[in-house]
Amino acid sequence: MTTSHGTLLILNGPNLNLLGTREPQIYGTATLEDVNALCTEAASRLGFSADCQQSNHEGVLIDAIHAARGTCSGIVINAGAFTHTSVALRDALAGVELPAIEVHISNVHTREEFRHHSYLSPVVDAVIVGAGINGYKLAIEHLVHLLA
Ligand code: DQA
Repeated sequence: MTTSHGTLLILNGPNLNLLGTREPQIYGTATLEDVNALCTEAASRLGFSADCQQSNHEGVLIDAIHAARGTCSGIVINAGAFTHTSVALRDALAGVELPAIEVHISNVHTREEFRHHSYLSPVVDAVIVGAGINGYKLAIEHLVHLLA
């Protein structure tokens, strides 16, 4: 199918490369490849391309957000543990002024106290937590809804 509406950046942060083997009781057994396939499929169904990237490095994630300005229509981000620590990632998201959706596979609010606070939530359009990897699909659908 022709992708005519543009590209969505799907950005995964630290340790999400370990999906499938990492604490499967919390994160499930799907791999990052499965997540990327799901995102590519969901985006393509809605006429978009998905640019799926993952890094364990805060600066690389920030560079990817900066690069999205001018090349991508919106961002879906699961920043992993940087969600709870990174003012720099928050500033990057705020700085590029692209529509953005924050995703967490697990329900962070039923987990440790330190996971209850997100530096990113105040600067994104929506937050999806606890829906498993289906959260990425929901995020893409909502992002496209915002872009319509
Ligand atoms: C996570 C939740 C974070 O607290 C954690 O550090 C992760 C994954 C999630 O998808 O549920 O790495 O973002």
